[in-house]
Amino acid sequence: MTDSAKDTVSSNQMWGGRFAAGPDAIMEAINASIGFDQRLYAQDIAGSRAHAAMLAAQGIITSNDAEAIREGLLTVLSEIEAGKFPFRTALEDIHMNVEARLKEIIGEPAGRLHTARSRNDQVATDFRLWVRDQCDAAQSSITALIQALLVQAEAGADWVMPGFTHLQTAQPVTWGHHMMAYVEMLGRDLSRFADARARMNESPLGAAALAGTSFPIDRHMTAKALGFDRPAANSLDAVADRDFALEFLAASSICAMHLSRLAEELVIWSSAQFRFVAMSDKWSTGSSIMPQKRNPDAAELIRAKIGRVLGATVALFTIMKGLPMTYSKDMQEDKEQTFDAADTLMLALAAMTGMISDLTVNRDKLAASAASGFSTATDLADWLVRELGLPFRDAHHVTGTLVAAAEAKGCDLPELTLAEMQAVHPGITQAVFDVLGVHNSVASRQSYGGTAPEQVRAQVARWKAKL
Ligand code: ARG
Repeated sequence: MTDSAKDTVSSNQMWGGRFAAGPDAIMEAINASIGFDQRLYAQDIAGSRAHAAMLAAQGIITSNDAEAIREGLLTVLSEIEAGKFPFRTALEDIHMNVEARLKEIIGEPAGRLHTARSRNDQVATDFRLWVRDQCDAAQSSITALIQALLVQAEAGADWVMPGFTHLQTAQPVTWGHHMMAYVEMLGRDLSRFADARARMNESPLGAAALAGTSFPIDRHMTAKALGFDRPAANSLDAVADRDFALEFLAASSICAMHLSRLAEELVIWSSAQFRFVAMSDKWSTGSSIMPQKRNPDAAELIRAKIGRVLGATVALFTIMKGLPMTYSKDMQEDKEQTFDAADTLMLALAAMTGMISDLTVNRDKLAASAASGFSTATDLADWLVRELGLPFRDAHHVTGTLVAAAEAKGCDLPELTLAEMQAVHPGITQAVFDVLGVHNSVASRQSYGGTAPEQVRAQVARWKAKL
């Protein structure tokens, strides 16, 4: 929609007298942000409306002018929403595009809107409002994913599966327990976005260019109108920092990292070698050459998205590093990175929620796999400690010898005969076979936060109550 060729007004004209010539075309290209910051239009108009109302309440502009500004801004808003707004590159950014259009619509009073304000506090306000909305959006998307995981966890609270360390079979766990591990991770992500939101909720508006203003403004009034908890206490800081965006990006990066791990598990689990799960058709693609293929593309893409989100985080840190107080144009580079990271995270969360909701779990395959790979070796060692009073280190050694015997025989631990076991340690009795089954193994893990189905169900209930 942006078309500089048709422009008749440039930002140099907006600041008038000092500039005789317009900018070089390349200067205009490097300087303009309207191509991306038009996304802040709603926040920009909300900020201007709050500012104009405050100026009138303080007697800085007349209520007639404030009313003209208010109505003009609503017209601008509807033009933008209808896709009829003439965005102009020559006017650099969303702030000046809106103000210039306001002037065309209402004339002279438009020029009073920028009293006691600067684009520096304006952009800081707009961007903060936008990032604040994204914190809310992230929290609802994460909550939806947690809910999908809770459904899986509840259904499979007692489905046994292998638990892994080093991606080697370690001990049997339950499907529900595994799902709940991600619920915990995402729960911390939720609280990170909530914390960031609470910290960023201070209004920069009224900091003006950097030093505050000589007009008798009421920053508390505009802060309240925009849903901020309070005005930012230092005008230099208010226009100069972007740590609120960095916190959002850091929280997004951690969340995207969590998603990438779950995505990787879905890729592994849906492979022909595992077959733990089947992804629904909705979340798979075929191959143009291999008819048998069902590729987990969505999971692979989610696994990759952390690259973009973390890339944006590193970019903004690099942009901000070493900038002297206060505003520098470098900071215009904050937006594209943050926009892309937010879009990427929301898409990844939505796709993951869909995949988890539509997942078919192969319970039998999970159970069969849980019983293989000597997964109850630790249960056997614990039994030797508990029943025969062996020191754990000796029990570990005896168990290792039994695993080697099973390996030599080509069977799993429960398939060894009692005689074969007694040849390794004469104290072993028939009762040992009770602990070699995977169901008994998981049922015995009753320590708080352990994998026993009762523990898993208790955690599911706790989360359901919490949400
Ligand atoms: N487009 C600018 C940005 O995004 C707005 C602030 C411009 N302020 C200035 N003093 N040039 O950062």
